[in-house]
Amino acid sequence: WEVSWDASAAVKGGYATFMDKEIHEQPTAVADTLRGRVDERGELVLDEMRIDPAVLRRVDKIIVIACGTAAYAGHVAKYAIEHWCRIPVEVELAHEFRYRDPVVSEKTLTVAISQSGETMDTIQAVRHAREQGSKVLAIVNTYGSTIAREADAVLYTHAGPEVAVASTKAFLAQITACYLLGLYLAQLRGNKWPDEVADYLTDLGRMPDKIQQVLDTQAETVQALGAELADRPSFLFLGRHVGFPVALEGALKLKELAYVHAEGFAAGELKHGPIALIEEGLPVFVIVPTPRRPVLHDKVIANIQEIRARGARTIVIAEEGDEAVAPFADDVIRVPATPTLMWPLLTVVPLQVFAAALATAKGLDVDQPRNLAKSVTVE
Ligand code: AGP
Repeated sequence: WEVSWDASAAVKGGYATFMDKEIHEQPTAVADTLRGRVDERGELVLDEMRIDPAVLRRVDKIIVIACGTAAYAGHVAKYAIEHWCRIPVEVELAHEFRYRDPVVSEKTLTVAISQSGETMDTIQAVRHAREQGSKVLAIVNTYGSTIAREADAVLYTHAGPEVAVASTKAFLAQITACYLLGLYLAQLRGNKWPDEVADYLTDLGRMPDKIQQVLDTQAETVQALGAELADRPSFLFLGRHVGFPVALEGALKLKELAYVHAEGFAAGELKHGPIALIEEGLPVFVIVPTPRRPVLHDKVIANIQEIRARGARTIVIAEEGDEAVAPFADDVIRVPATPTLMWPLLTVVPLQVFAAALATAKGLDVDQPRNLAKSVTVE
């Protein structure tokens, strides 16, 4: 796979901002990250996985190291890899990892996720993991970057150049690469039969169209919502299971673009404290799992009822046809049905659109928010 980044790609292509352009490039970013990695028999082939299969079969723990949005991709990876491969996965902020004497051995696989491949905290964590004898697999977007060069193997995300400081398409590509890694390990270690892996890959192959569908059908409504809520000082985001990292990412996007207080919580944590924050009119985004997983779904519906009863404005992201949310939602954003583990690729998209719209309505610089750099090259 040859990666060539053309300077002409780095123009806004008719969009008002790079972020807007990059949000709309997400179906392509996911498709390009999948391309060439599935053979004609439906089997996953990762030529770039230059770590001895015998070593990968012995792995007894995976540690994901990353910062910011890339770390949230790592959280999604934990749900998928543990479910598919039965290997414990820890997700650690790279800047915490190095300073807390982590338990790392030759049986640990360290996965470093970074768009730029130049984040100093993550580079230092990669070096630390390797010193402890761990193999390091990098999931990076920038060809030939420091992390790509220092890792034992690289699984490139093919998101193309990401110019806006706030990460969008790289995030979706990172999650996609993590799914590929999980399925590859499940295939290699015999946790999944080849036809099961092929089924998951088929589901993954449908994601670009579904992301496009979310953009085509929901973006306008979400943009209007962003403009309407531009004067609000505070927002909450709630999710369960893979919806939890999506909630964290939704809050981060809003903080960095719109400079407002925004917090993401695991919905089950509400009653342990955050519910005290709920007051009349507070906008709360809730990511609702599919009704095909009633245990998860019904719990989140109960959470929506709890916050609505206390006056919150509930903005619900739910699967098409899920009518159970209607009585408790002030606003409903619809996304197509998809297997639960792949849900983040769809549900995060409206949150990105919302943050960009709200920041635009406030007259802020969406591509270059204050105090932030695209790549944090200092510790
Ligand atoms: C995302 O919107 C942020 N700007 C930031 O959290 C970023 O994801 C983080 O700094 C990690 O960057 P990297 O992926 O280039 O390592």
